[in-house]
Amino acid sequence: MGNNHSSSSRVNRHNNGAMKLRNKKSKQQLMEREENKESAKLKFHLPKNDQDIDRMQLQHFLFKHIWDDKNYSSPIEQRLKSGDCKVLDAGCGPGAWLLEMSTQHPSTRFHGVDIAAVFPSEIKPTNLNFHQCDINQGLPFKDNYFDFVRMSLMSTSLKINQWVNVIRELVRVLKPGGYLELIESGVQVYNAGPHFTFMVKNIISFKNSNELSVYITNQIPSILSSIPSLTDIQSDFRVIPIGPLGGQSGLIYGDLLDMYFTNKLKDVLPKCMNITEKEYLDLWDRCQLEFKIHAATTKLFRFWAQKVVVTDDDDDDDDENIEEGVGIDQLIN
Ligand SMILES: C[S@@+](CC[C@H](N)C(=O)[O-])C[C@H]1O[C@@H](n2cnc3c(N)ncnc32)[C@H](O)[C@@H]1O
Repeated sequence: MGNNHSSSSRVNRHNNGAMKLRNKKSKQQLMEREENKESAKLKFHLPKNDQDIDRMQLQHFLFKHIWDDKNYSSPIEQRLKSGDCKVLDAGCGPGAWLLEMSTQHPSTRFHGVDIAAVFPSEIKPTNLNFHQCDINQGLPFKDNYFDFVRMSLMSTSLKINQWVNVIRELVRVLKPGGYLELIESGVQVYNAGPHFTFMVKNIISFKNSNELSVYITNQIPSILSSIPSLTDIQSDFRVIPIGPLGGQSGLIYGDLLDMYFTNKLKDVLPKCMNITEKEYLDLWDRCQLEFKIHAATTKLFRFWAQKVVVTDDDDDDDDENIEEGVGIDQLIN
């Protein structure tokens, strides 16, 4: 009995020790998992991996196709052809738009900036330069420098309170008479089935909890209107079909969404929805089945505006401001 007791208490002690170790280990694993999820959340604004970069490139070609094969809506055709024209793409990602545009317009100088160096460093046209920088810290260009400035698909990169300052910074580097163009897809989906509607609802919660603007496409017109140096503010949209009922474009966008949900969103959405990764992927499978019976769509928006042309008097003031306005050490000419 005594032996039994002592051996059982030994076993218990051993078990307790193992349990404590297991608890400690699982606690540590849990903490590590939480930390990984947190860091996935913090890194959400960055391209995740090669598949994510491929997705952005493919998406560029699809969105151009959906927009009647036009790479921009601003009336800048003549400037691009005339030479001595300068163009900036802010948050350019892998630079698909820039690579195409700089090849088509060899006498125009193109610049791309992105916080992550996911753009090509060597194999690119000579009239195209990339710079790694955080647009929230200001752009490394002097005032009134570009004829055309664009920024595309930044709704998961910029927080609500960053949009106004970033747009002001884009306007700062734009020449009077030049055009600013913003491109964003809407978060709303139309004719979606119940599973995809549920998924989108959770994307909205995720965006809200990360201070990302859910309805930025509704807010951009008033942000642009609030900037006195912008005039002639215009917008337009195209419908993006989702899934096989939307023809070839729908099939391609369905594939792009599949890449997005099973790669990038997989790091953050299951936690936000309080479900396991497997449950999340099963739900996504059900969404894909739904696309075969619900012709779901979403919208792609473009907003563009012109920077007011300054009078001679204003011009004098601007000359004085050229160095002050920049606030950044390295000026790119
Ligand atoms: C969704 S991607 C869009 C890429 C490209 N504009 C397009 O339309 O395909 C967002 C890009 O913004 C970049 N980005 C995020 N935050 C940024 C910041 N603060 N400054 C500069 N680039 C940023 C990311 O690295 C990423 O390449």
